[in-house]
Parts: sequence; structure tokens; C-alpha cells
Amino acid sequence: MASRRLVRVGITEQSQGAQAQVARFACIAAVPSGLEEPAAAELAALGAQAVRPLRRAVALEADLACFYRLHLQARLPFRILRQLARFPCRSRQDLYAGVQAAADWQRWLPPEARFRVDSTGTAPGLSHSHFSALEVKNALVDWQRQHWGERSSVDLEDPDLALHLHLGGEGAILSLDGSGGSLHRRGYRAAMGLAPLKENLAAGLVALTGWDGSVPLADPLCGSGTLLIEAACQALGRAPGLGRSFGFERWPDFDPLLWQQERQVALALDRSALRPASLADGRPLAPIVGLDQDQAVLEQAKNNCQAAGMAAAIELQRGDCRDFQPPQGPGILVCNPPYGERLGQRDQLEVLYADLGAMVKERCSGWTLWLLSGNPELTGALRMKASRRIPINNGGIDCRWLKYELR
Ligand SMILES: C[S@@+](CC[C@H](N)C(=O)[O-])C[C@H]1O[C@@H](n2cnc3c(N)ncnc32)[C@H](O)[C@@H]1O
Repeated sequence: MASRRLVRVGITEQSQGAQAQVARFACIAAVPSGLEEPAAAELAALGAQAVRPLRRAVALEADLACFYRLHLQARLPFRILRQLARFPCRSRQDLYAGVQAAADWQRWLPPEARFRVDSTGTAPGLSHSHFSALEVKNALVDWQRQHWGERSSVDLEDPDLALHLHLGGEGAILSLDGSGGSLHRRGYRAAMGLAPLKENLAAGLVALTGWDGSVPLADPLCGSGTLLIEAACQALGRAPGLGRSFGFERWPDFDPLLWQQERQVALALDRSALRPASLADGRPLAPIVGLDQDQAVLEQAKNNCQAAGMAAAIELQRGDCRDFQPPQGPGILVCNPPYGERLGQRDQLEVLYADLGAMVKERCSGWTLWLLSGNPELTGALRMKASRRIPINNGGIDCRWLKYELR
């Protein structure tokens, strides 16, 4: 991300620091469908206030320090929107006037800053998101022309200010997107195997298992290793946001001192460089193992583990899941086997699921298996009864995170 920053207008750095300690603002964290409850728990544990799970989102309040902390340390959100204003919106004219009055634009959007607007939802006279976003843009550039005689450019790729409009229930919420690119991008995954899980979804699936690093964790169809890497990062306190930049670093109220403080706190939590690797309470990290039959995919997984700083914590092997030998357990198995949309794969996949079921029953007695399924017919071939079935949306596919207790 370029180092362009908005011109600071208004309060000084010192007073800003003091203000950051007290002023709280409303936020919405966008989270994967099905992970609202664990996301709310995570955000509350990081200091967010007034936390409320919604649909695909969590409402919360944060001050600047907490806002920075959530971006650095929260593993489950896609993005966190900071509310600028909410206003009644029953027409195009309401939207135009509401946007112009929503913030001190002299401070937030000087003409040299480039911006983008995204929009969701509908209101009377505003049924197309693209049109609503254009209306916000027009309100802002008209305001700028009146004040400065010039206007900002729109930049969809690398804006200085990313605005988000949500319309619904005859009201509008105008927010700033602090992420600067979805938070699932941690910066460690250059390489992607077949159908990789998004990092935040993988982190949420691991959170739902309750795994705490003290018992072995294994993924016998590990692909690019996302579940294992996210689990290791979680267990070793490696904050997901340490290796990337954020949109709010270009905001006019960005507080570099406060940001550095929060980065130091996050860095101090990171135990990934300790040998032997240990949990926050001093217990040793249990084995984390992965297996995949595809050599090229396994190489990608190794590169990803390396880039995430987790290579020492995760043991990867090439092999067929049918030959998987679990470490001494019991522990937790996680996996996301292929569920194949293409014709012709179906029979082979049924055999794979049946063999996987047979393997875990034979060798993983006492373990718990969590399997992400996008196809109930295939999971039937496991010949096991799930004790929990949690609906999860994986990139638009309606899936279930299934829990099986292996006796
Ligand atoms: C959907 S992908 C897993 C994606 C992974 N969760 C990630 O985020 O990258 C399924 C993986 O199963 C592997 N696979 C398929 N059949 C296998 C088998 N019999 N034994 C081991 N791995 C297998 C494929 O090579 C593929 O990498």
C-alpha cells in the first residue's frame, strides 16, 4: 500500500492521543455467516464494548486504541466499519443531504485524497447499490467543489478513504472501512492450493472446535494448510494483522503513537519464536500435523507455514489420508475434504469419504473429528452420526461444520 496520507486538519497529535483514550464510536464488524457468536466473543475479549451479534456481522463500540487492537488481533472479521453518521433516508435527496452533513469533510476528504464508495441495502428511491454509491460520490464531490473549487478522484484499487453506505429500514449508515483490503488477507498466503478456505473462516472453524493447543491437532487433507496455520497462530498468540497495513493508517485522525503501542502489545503476545513452543500458560504446544496427497499443494502449504512463521510448529507430510497415522492422542481432527461439483467425481468422492470414515474409526479412537461438508450425500458415506451440525457459508456455498465423537 502506498504511503499517501490525508492531510491532518484540526486536533493536535497530543490532544488526539488523549482523546483516543475516551471517545468511543459505533462499529460493525463483517464476519462469515455462521461465525457471529464466536466473532462476538473474540471481539469482546479484545476489549470491544456493547458487543451484539447480528446476521453476518457484529455490532460493537470501540475507542481508537481498541479499533487498532481489533485490526491487529481479531482473527474472524472480514472488515470493521467505523460509523460516521446515521440518518433517516427515504429518498435520493435525503441521501445527498445526509452524506454532506455526515462528517467534517474538510478534515476527512480534502481534494488531494482519493476515495471509493461501496453500498449495500436499499431505501425508497434507492434500489440499486451502484446508483446509491454514485449518489454518495456526487454529494461529496459537489461539497468539495463548493468549498475548494476542486474535487477528489475516485480510486477503486487503493483509496485514501474507503466509505461504506448501508441502507435499510428507511435509514442510512455512512461508515469508514478501516481494513484497506479484507482482513482475511494476513499476508502469509502467496500460495493457494485447491479451494483454500479463507483465513478468517479457517480461524473461526478452529475456534468452534474449542482446541486450545494442549492436545494434538491434525488435518489429513490439509491442502494449503490454512486450518493448521490459523490454529498454530491462535495457540502461539501470533496476531493476524502484524504482517500487513490498514486503511486507517491514512485517516486524518491516525494516531501513530497509539498505533505503535498497540503493535508492541500484539508483538509481546507472540510466542512463535520460543523453543520449545509453548502456550500462554506455559504448557507445551501439542503436535500439529497435516497430510495431503498432492506434492505441489503440500509445497504450497510448507511455503505458507514458513511465511506465517509457523514452520516449526506444524509438521507436514505427503500421503493419502487413508494411510494417516495420528500422533499420540486423543486430539482433534479437522478437515475440509473435496466435495466436487463436477460430474464424474461423485463416485470417487463417495469412496474417499467412506475410506476416511473407516480410517478414523479404526485409528482415532477417543478423538473428535470436525469436517466441513458442502454435500450431505457425501458425508452420508462416512457412516457416522454428527453430534453437532453448524451452518457455515464458505464462499457462497452452504456448508456444515460437522462434529463427530470417535469412540
Ligand atoms: C478442499 S481442499 C482443502 C483445502 C484446505 N482446507 C485449505 O484451506 O487449503 C482438499 C484437499 O484434499 C486433498 N486430498 C484429496 N484426496 C486426498 C486423499 N485421498 N488423501 C489426502 N489428501 C487428499 C487435495 O489434494 C486437496 O488439497
